Amino acid sequence: MNRKYRKTIIAGNWKMNKLPSELKTFSEALKALVPRAKWCEVAVCVPAVMIPGAVRAFKDGKVCVGAQDISAAEFGAFTGECSGAQLADAGAKYVIVGHSERRQNHGETNELINAKVKTALANKLIPIVCVGESLEQREMGVTLEVVTLQIKTILSDITAEQVKKLIIAYEPIWAIGTGKTATAEQAGAVCTAIRALIRGMYGARIARSVTIQYGGSMNGKNAAELLAQPDIDGGLVGGASLDPAEFAKIIMAAQELEE
Ligand code: 13P
Repeated sequence: MNRKYRKTIIAGNWKMNKLPSELKTFSEALKALVPRAKWCEVAVCVPAVMIPGAVRAFKDGKVCVGAQDISAAEFGAFTGECSGAQLADAGAKYVIVGHSERRQNHGETNELINAKVKTALANKLIPIVCVGESLEQREMGVTLEVVTLQIKTILSDITAEQVKKLIIAYEPIWAIGTGKTATAEQAGAVCTAIRALIRGMYGARIARSVTIQYGGSMNGKNAAELLAQPDIDGGLVGGASLDPAEFAKIIMAAQELEE
C-alpha cells in the first residue's frame, strides 16, 4: 500500500449470497467492529437487487456499495441485465467488471469487458476490473503474458484520465474460493508488474495513482502480509466478506498498516 499516492480500498464481493433482509444486521455488526474506517475506503459489492437496501443499511457506517456486473449496453431490449445508469441511480459507486466467474460462466471476453468498463465510466461508476490467470497458466509460466493481454485489451481506448478513476483487481483464479492464497510475494510481484505495465502505457504519474487490489482467499489472518506489499493497495474479498468479524479484521489490518 502507499497512502501517499493512492487510496486503499477493501471491497467485499458477496457474489450470490445473503438476502436483502439480512443487510441491516450485517451492517450493524460491522459498524460495531469498525467504528469508522479512517485511511481506507470500505465497500460491499452486492447482488443488484440488494443495492438500494445496502445503500440505506451502510450509510451510517460510511461503507460504499458496489454492483457485481453491468450491461455493456446503455438501455433497451436486454432482458435480465442492468444498465450503468440504473446501477448508479440505485446508489452504486463501484461495479466489478470481468470477474473470472463471469468469464467462466457467461463467456465474457476481454473485448466485452472493455465495453463494460466504458459504460461504467460513462455513468460515473468506478469499475473494479478483474484480471488473473488459471492454475494451468501459472504452472506453464505464462501468468504475466495472460495478465498483460487482459489489461491491454480491457484498457484499449481508455484515456489516462479514465484510468486514474478505475481500480484493478488481481485475482488468480486458482486462489478464488479455494483457501489457497497466493503468497504475499507471488501476489505482490504480479501487482508490481501490473503497475509497470500501466506505467508503460500511461506514464509514471498515472501508474502511481492507480489502486491495485488482490483477491483470492484473503482473510483476517493473511491480509496484513498481503497488504504490506508495496503494490497491493487493498483487497477484493469473497468468502471472508460474508462474516462481519472476518471482514472487520481485514479492514483493521489495512488501517493499522496505514497508521
Ligand atoms: P474468495 O475471497 O472467496 O476467494 O473470493 C475472491 C473473489 O473472487 C473476490 O472477487
